[in-house]
Amino acid sequence: MCKVLAIVNQKGGVGKTTTALNLGYALSESGKKVLLIDLDPQGSLTISCGYDNNDNLVTTIASLMAMTMEDRLLPGKNDYILTVGSMDLVPCNIELSAIEVSLVNAMSRESILKAIISELKEDYDYVIVDCSPSLGMLTINALAACNGVLIPVTPEYLSAKGLELLLKNILKVKKRINPSIEIKGILLTMYTERMNLSKEIRSMIETAYGKVLNIYSTHIPKSVRVGESALSSKSIIEFDQKNKVACSYREFAQEVLANDAAN
Ligand SMILES: Nc1ncnc2c1ncn2[C@@H]1O[C@H](COP(=O)(O)OP(=O)(O)OP(=O)(O)O)[C@@H](O)[C@H]1O
Ligand SMILES: [Mg+2]
Repeated sequence: MCKVLAIVNQKGGVGKTTTALNLGYALSESGKKVLLIDLDPQGSLTISCGYDNNDNLVTTIASLMAMTMEDRLLPGKNDYILTVGSMDLVPCNIELSAIEVSLVNAMSRESILKAIISELKEDYDYVIVDCSPSLGMLTINALAACNGVLIPVTPEYLSAKGLELLLKNILKVKKRINPSIEIKGILLTMYTERMNLSKEIRSMIETAYGKVLNIYSTHIPKSVRVGESALSSKSIIEFDQKNKVACSYREFAQEVLANDAAN
């Protein structure tokens, strides 16, 4: 059974895209068939995968969503799925921001992405959806289409505070649109062991949510090598496999697999 995971946080720059790419990479190293879907009009995941001319791409998640809204048949998968090493990618570009606007008046506007994923998921063990930093219609589409939500959080006061709003929205979608959605867990990213603030935020999140939510025991440290890997269009695991962030993402993937095996 394919797992559809949405990487969500309306706060920008918390490591959603980095997590989507590296979790995907680590899962594919473990033999899983992985499809990445870039659902952020910024196209950061597409660019991180090496497709930096994404404005020239003809078929993207934006055009697939437009076709679905117009009840048109989707093209063959080979026409738009790009390869990223042993993973596959449905790319994205800025056209997705116009789609977000037109979604507002579309029929079944929350389930457009779900319809696309349902045509693809039989080929994969994991579909990972990288969301934009917002709680708009695109993110709602990701929440409606997924079985699991992963929430990267950086150890800052604000992002822990925004978590409340995010959880409220996820619960709303669960109640009204997608009862099978499960919050898989909170992943602490850009974590600095030596910083008291990191520890304080971790214990704050544990106190507030530890009883109701899984907080992954793996946390992702900070390293300047992550920025360098992004510049070279590679996952940090591929770029520098001994790096502490690379090791943490591998460990995180094992935790995700173990949790899925237990459920
Ligand atoms: N573990 C890390 N250590 C150091 N830098 C990191 C780490 N993870 C991510 N970064 C850097 O932080 C920035 C934000 O990361 P990323 O793009 O993954 O976040 P995001 O949540 O997807 O952002 P957005 O909300 O804009 O989509 C990027 O420049 C990335 O290279
Ligand atoms: Mg991003």
